[in-house]
Amino acid sequence: MRALVTGGAGFIGSNLADQLTARGAEVLVVDNLSTGRRENLDEALESGAALVEGDVAVAPEFDEIVDEFGPDRIFHLAAQVDVRKAVADPGLDARINVVGTINVLEAARRHEAAVVFASTGGAIYGEGSGRGLPLDEKAASLPETPYGASKLTGEIYLDLYRRLYGLAGVALRFGNVYGPRQDPHGEAGVVAIFCGLLRTGGPLRVFGDGEQTRDYVFVADVVSACLAAEEALSSRGSGVDGPYNVGTGIETSVLELARLLGAATGVDPSLEHHPARTGEVDRISIDPSASRRDLGWVAETGLETGLARTAAALAGDR
Ligand SMILES: NC(=O)c1ccc[n+]([C@@H]2O[C@H](COP(=O)([O-])OP(=O)(O)OC[C@H]3O[C@@H](n4cnc5c(N)ncnc54)[C@H](O)[C@@H]3O)[C@@H](O)[C@H]2O)c1
Repeated sequence: MRALVTGGAGFIGSNLADQLTARGAEVLVVDNLSTGRRENLDEALESGAALVEGDVAVAPEFDEIVDEFGPDRIFHLAAQVDVRKAVADPGLDARINVVGTINVLEAARRHEAAVVFASTGGAIYGEGSGRGLPLDEKAASLPETPYGASKLTGEIYLDLYRRLYGLAGVALRFGNVYGPRQDPHGEAGVVAIFCGLLRTGGPLRVFGDGEQTRDYVFVADVVSACLAAEEALSSRGSGVDGPYNVGTGIETSVLELARLLGAATGVDPSLEHHPARTGEVDRISIDPSASRRDLGWVAETGLETGLARTAAALAGDR
């Protein structure tokens, strides 16, 4: 396997690059290091992966890098992932998440490479309250931010390339991913923020009543979903449809998360309540039944175990 991993210096991408190299794949990471870190790839680079600094949204430069490598698989994780930045500069968000994805799809077409696209459940479905959670893939897409709209547009282009050109590609809608190497800026940033505050003894800031829920999924499980999707594409090609939810179907509130992290770190958390933030959904969880049925994937790491591993890893990081 010659695997191109865009955004591979980031949180999820670097965990994926580790697994791909461990399986003997030739791995090229293309990343502009805007939020990713070279250190995230220390292990993968030692095991033979390569990193080229490049921007997926700048076609000629990106094309040259890809064409020289000649991938047969592309895992597209590079993205502008900061929801607040997307609201402040939706044009920049679209340039990276839409134009960047089109450049990846064009590259996949040239090389007849299969594509696994990192999409998002948390930001595409919108508010889950009153909609019968967990939501499956047939639920209406009602993004509430430019980031959700740009990721959904990426899915629409992927689907277009499947129908127009027979591209083998699938979109995975991740829940709120947490785990080693995560930063505070991503969709499950609260886990990293709480871990940091618990280490320094600061109070945990809770916005609103703390009853708002998310579907937290451990990064190793997300990596195994990417690998399961790749295997399905290898055996069934453009017959693999999607999008597929990659979550647990379980809602966890911020207050419960604080309690679990307190238990995982042995610190009794003190909470500091702030007014609710606008533009954040109240409740969401996503139904993983279709991924189980079609990809044979299921999240294996319980929240308590995953949070304990995350807290330990983040403590070792800094
Ligand atoms: N973390 C989550 O909870 C979550 C949830 C749903 C979906 N996702 C998706 O998963 C993917 C990975 O997210 P992550 O949490 O690892 O975030 P991350 O910020 O750690 O990783 C994104 C990577 O993309 C790189 N990048 C950004 N713009 C680029 C560009 N123009 N060209 C090349 N590289 C670029 C960054 O430097 C970074 O290494 C993203 O596509 C994101 O939308 C993440």
